Amino acid sequence: MKIGVPIEIKNNENRVGMTPSGVFELTKRNHTVFIQKDAGYNSGFPDEDYIDAGATILNTIEEVYDVAEMIVKVKEPIEKEYALIKEGQVVFTYFHFASSEVLTKAMVDSKAVCIAYETVEDKDGSLPLLIPMSEVAGRMSIQQGAKYLEKPIMGRGILLGGIPGVPPAKVLILGAGIVGVQAARMASGLGANVFILDINMKALRHVSETMPNNVISEFSSEYNIRKHVKDSDLIIGGVLIKGAKAPKLITKDMLKDMRPGTVMVDVAVDQGGCFETTKPTTHQDPTYIIDDVVHYSVANMPGAVPYTSTMGLTNVTLPYVIKLADMGWEKACEKNKSLAKGLNVVNGKIVYKEIAEAFDLEFEKV
Ligand SMILES: NC(=O)c1ccc[n+]([C@@H]2O[C@H](COP(=O)([O-])OP(=O)(O)OC[C@H]3O[C@@H](n4cnc5c(N)ncnc54)[C@H](O)[C@@H]3O)[C@@H](O)[C@H]2O)c1
Repeated sequence: MKIGVPIEIKNNENRVGMTPSGVFELTKRNHTVFIQKDAGYNSGFPDEDYIDAGATILNTIEEVYDVAEMIVKVKEPIEKEYALIKEGQVVFTYFHFASSEVLTKAMVDSKAVCIAYETVEDKDGSLPLLIPMSEVAGRMSIQQGAKYLEKPIMGRGILLGGIPGVPPAKVLILGAGIVGVQAARMASGLGANVFILDINMKALRHVSETMPNNVISEFSSEYNIRKHVKDSDLIIGGVLIKGAKAPKLITKDMLKDMRPGTVMVDVAVDQGGCFETTKPTTHQDPTYIIDDVVHYSVANMPGAVPYTSTMGLTNVTLPYVIKLADMGWEKACEKNKSLAKGLNVVNGKIVYKEIAEAFDLEFEKV
């Protein structure tokens, strides 16, 4: 199969859909991979590495879309790319269709086969192509939080781990899922006192059994959250209720009870945020202050660490890319039910019920 990897042209997106190692695996199986010039540059992969792995470099995005039977990328196509997508072409990427009717209609009109990373789903309901990005964001939340706790950036001026003779900071983590657990791992590793809250007892048991002693699990309730915000230095929001907006667990009135310079990192910002005072920010201008509390709420945190994020993402997408290339999308989806869940728009039809419902459009089963 001819596989094309274009450069990501969405603002501030530095990841790339395939690493040289992915190219190596595909060319070994006699597939041809076309990489747009400099597509991997911002993720730390120069064109030479792709060439060594067997790829052909093309100069323009038009050439890549024109030659490829399957496009592998990271973010949803933006308007400029709509016209480049061809009938019958497989496009394997994050789409997040439910948040854009314009994109949905454009992909229906293109008659392409759109397989969305975010809806590829395992038997147990987990979303394997979203997990690595939550892992990145969870770990990064502590790194960012530690930075914004510094005084020159308006934080409390406390070192997360303290020093001998000086107590460490207190970190409160809401949600013990992927983000929360990774955040707890980082914060505890730095020596902070960590409290992690969830409503899922299974998640709390897992934390209690696997985390070091400086991580305390506790049931999530308004009472417990109000108790902890008073003396927490860093608060991480990592809750998720699938398919719904995040619950507002920290209300505006709670900010008054916090100490000046407390830092709140709302990782759940992409689901509306779990703090009432959250509004989305960017890597250019990541924080704002309300009632002396520093808010960090960047919606695409993994974008700041493209090397790690690209590797994490492509580790989990490559096995599916190989199946699609080896068998073609129809057979690959027939044989692999997880991948079949990724089918969103096929040859001009919406085949994912929730997306059709979101815009009151026609749904057709594949
Ligand atoms: N900002 C970013 O760049 C970025 C990157 C990756 C993920 N995210 C977002 O981070 C959020 C968390 O993702 P995840 O993969 O960890 O989800 P997850 O499903 O693994 O974990 C969410 C946890 O929240 C818990 N929860 C639900 N209601 C709660 C409550 N009232 N109190 C405490 N806990 C509660 C759930 O029981 C679950 O354990 C999602 O909104 C996701 O989209 C953001």
